[in-house]
Amino acid sequence: MTVQFGHSMKDEWPQDPAITYLNHGTVGAPPKRVLEVQQRLRDEIERQPSRFLLREISPKGVGVWKRERSRLRDAANAVGEFVGAKGDDLVFVDNTTEGVNAVLRSFDFREGDEVLVSDLAYGGVMNAADYATRVRGARVRTVELLKSVKDPGEIVRTVSEAIAPNTRIVVIDHITSGTALIMPVAQVAEICSKRGVAVLVDGAHAPGAISVDIASLGVDWYTGNLHKWAWSPRSCGFLWASPARQQSLRPTVISWGLDQGFTHEFDWPGTRDPTPHLAAPAGIAFMRELGVDRVQRYNHELAWQAGLELTRHLDARLLAPESMIGTMVTVSLPARFGATAEDAARLRDTLLFEHQIEVHVAAFDNQVCLRVSAQIYNEMSDIGRLVKALN
Ligand SMILES: Cc1ncc(COP(=O)(O)O)c(C=O)c1O
Repeated sequence: MTVQFGHSMKDEWPQDPAITYLNHGTVGAPPKRVLEVQQRLRDEIERQPSRFLLREISPKGVGVWKRERSRLRDAANAVGEFVGAKGDDLVFVDNTTEGVNAVLRSFDFREGDEVLVSDLAYGGVMNAADYATRVRGARVRTVELLKSVKDPGEIVRTVSEAIAPNTRIVVIDHITSGTALIMPVAQVAEICSKRGVAVLVDGAHAPGAISVDIASLGVDWYTGNLHKWAWSPRSCGFLWASPARQQSLRPTVISWGLDQGFTHEFDWPGTRDPTPHLAAPAGIAFMRELGVDRVQRYNHELAWQAGLELTRHLDARLLAPESMIGTMVTVSLPARFGATAEDAARLRDTLLFEHQIEVHVAAFDNQVCLRVSAQIYNEMSDIGRLVKALN
C-alpha cells in the first residue's frame, strides 16, 4: 500500500504538533526511526567505547580489528551510492561549513589569486573564503547573480564573464540559501574547466532535495549536508574530492592521519561522536523505502504550489521559474512587509510566536523574503495557514 504524504507523516517525526513547520531546510529534521538507529548505535558504543571507536572506526586501528573495514567507510559507500560518487572519494565532516573550510584552507593560494563567489552565497561560506584568501594575500571577488536569477543561461554567462586570469576557484551553490534556487552547476563547471579554474560546490541543500550525481558534474570538490534533506541526524556533512585534488586536501583539524592519505586524514579528527555519520544510511534507506523520486516530486510540487499561492494572495513575487525550484521556494513580499533585516526578524517572530508557524524570513535587495520549505509531513493546509497569518 502506498503511504500517503502530508500530516499523516507527522507520526514519523518528533516535532511539536502545535507548530506548522515550514523550515525543514534550515537545520534539517531527522525522522524518529533514524534517531532510533542513532540511539542504538550509541548504546552499542557505550557497551565497549574504546573497542568500538578504536577498532571499528579509527582508520589506523589499535590491536586486533573486529572488522575488515572501518564502519565509517561502509557508511561512506552508502552515501556515495546516493550522491553518485565512490565511497572512498568521500569523507564525512560535521557540516558543509567544515567541508568548505577544509577545501579553501588547504588550497595553495598565491599573492594576488582570487576566489570567485556569488552574491547568493551563504554568509558563513563567504567568511570562510574571506579568511582562507586573506591569510595568503589572495582575495574574494563577488559576482552579482541576484539580478540575473531568472535564467540559468544568464547565470552561466555572468560567471563566465567574471572569471579573470587570477581566478583560481569558483565557489557555486547547488541550491542557494535564502533565495533557494537550483544553480546550473554542471554548465558552470564546464566553462571553468575550459579556463583552468577549479570548482567547489556548496551542496548544503542538495542531497535528498534533488537528485545529485557528483560524477556527472565535472567539479573538483563537492561538499554537502545530509542532515538537511537526506534525513540524517545532525551533524552530518560530507566532502567529496576528485582523485586529483585529494592529496593536497587537509581536514580543518589535523590529527593522526596527517600524510596518511585522504580518507585516513579525515576519518579520525580526534575523538568524536560517529553516530550521525553511521546513521546516515538509515535516512537514505527510509527515503528509498518511500521512493526517493516520489518524495522529491511531492516536496517540489508542494513548494511550487506554495510559491503560487503566496503570489496569488499576497502580491508576493517569485524569484525564478519552476525549473530552478527544488523543495524550497522563496518569494519576495510587497513593501508593506518592510525592507530591512529588522522587518524580517519581526515578521519571523510574529509568525512563530503569534501563529505557531516556523518559516525562514530574511531581507535582501531591500525586500523582505520568505522561504518556504516543503517536506512530506507538510501539506497545502500549512500553506493556507501561512497565507492567512500574513493577511
Ligand atoms: C547554501 C548553504 N551553504 C552552507 C550552509 C551551512 O550549512 P551548515 O551550517 O550545516 O554548515 C547553509 C546553511 O543553511 C546553506 O544554506
